Amino acid sequence: MTFLSATLNRVKPSPTIAVTTKAAELKAAGRDIIALGAGEPDFDTPEHIQKAGQQAISEGKTRYTAVDGVPELKEAICAKFQRDNDLSYETAQVTVGTGGKQVLYNAFMATLNAGDEVIIPAPYWVSYPDMVLLAGGTPVIVEATLENSFKITAEQLRNAITPQTKWFLFNSPSNPTGAGYSWDELKALTDILVENPHVWIITDDMYEHLAFGNFKFCTPAQVEPRLYERSLTVNGVSKAYAMTGWRIGYAAGPEELIKAMRKVQSQSTSNPSSIGQYAALEALNGPQDFLADNAKLFQRRRDLVVDALNGCPGISCPRPEGAFYVYPSIAGCIGKTSASGVKIETDEDFATALLEETGVAVVFGAAFGVSPNFRVSYATSDAQLTEACARIKVFCEGLS
Ligand SMILES: Cc1ncc(COP(=O)(O)O)c(C=O)c1O
Repeated sequence: MTFLSATLNRVKPSPTIAVTTKAAELKAAGRDIIALGAGEPDFDTPEHIQKAGQQAISEGKTRYTAVDGVPELKEAICAKFQRDNDLSYETAQVTVGTGGKQVLYNAFMATLNAGDEVIIPAPYWVSYPDMVLLAGGTPVIVEATLENSFKITAEQLRNAITPQTKWFLFNSPSNPTGAGYSWDELKALTDILVENPHVWIITDDMYEHLAFGNFKFCTPAQVEPRLYERSLTVNGVSKAYAMTGWRIGYAAGPEELIKAMRKVQSQSTSNPSSIGQYAALEALNGPQDFLADNAKLFQRRRDLVVDALNGCPGISCPRPEGAFYVYPSIAGCIGKTSASGVKIETDEDFATALLEETGVAVVFGAAFGVSPNFRVSYATSDAQLTEACARIKVFCEGLS
């Protein structure tokens, strides 16, 4: 339709939201559905944070605030970066937006011109390439392999850099694979960036606190201080503090860049919710001990799901370091026919037939740039996970 913008033709709607919507529709129609599509914790925002939000309302903190966050929240963010990441920032280097999503989008809108390239490792979070396209840039996809635990190598990064490269977009632990880069693995990548001073780095640290076992989270500007002046470190309260609906994300980086991002926000949404900001303030300044308990809970669920999926014929599932996703390969299922006669030629066929025949909703791998795979979000109860994996097993055993 010519009325719509040409830019919009370059992007697609979020497939993860599409799967969640389809699963909800089937559920409403009375089907027994287990949804493993949504990327959010299955528990409520901790009570002390809820109370801070309620208090903000009753104290009348319900008006416009400074465009990119109240000063006390920016101070709490500076303290968080110092405490958790050994990074020193001043409040002028911090911006707060409506979720990590808006912060990333602001960064691309503020910096990309036609022809500018953004290197994005695949499998990637579905929104990255489309955000780059909406902002007028060109995504350059670098595919990580299952054999390399879904992490790209320094060689791959080096080969992807051109004179047009503006950003390298890094996400660890990753959505959709859960893969987490160790200090040494990340250092190998930052060494390449040190050699290429025209390339800046955006790191999406949204799953920082969901790191399991011996894996220790680290972030690029911490691993390589020489990148401090060209790093944008993005984080948020959505996943770690079970606050997806409050819509608060933030970033720290060079002051000029932060100012430009603020300009974008000032002409689009203005401030993120004042109530959300005060709740986020409590999240960052309040007790942090439950984060480790949550990580242990998710680690146990990861093991449950990985073990069960590896028991399904045709599926091979690596054991990732963090987040709440796994990204099994279904190479062994491709070309087969399901019990009800559906030919499985792609991972989308697999996910569609799985939903129709067993009621288990997962997101197909093509949405994340690497196939044939699917993503499981294991942010749901053990009972649901056990039942879902049992149904997936029956489905796979029925393929012929
Ligand atoms: C890797 C990654 N970055 C950013 C976001 C967005 O977070 P927020 O809800 O704070 O916008 C998500 C949410 O799914 C994510 O998985």
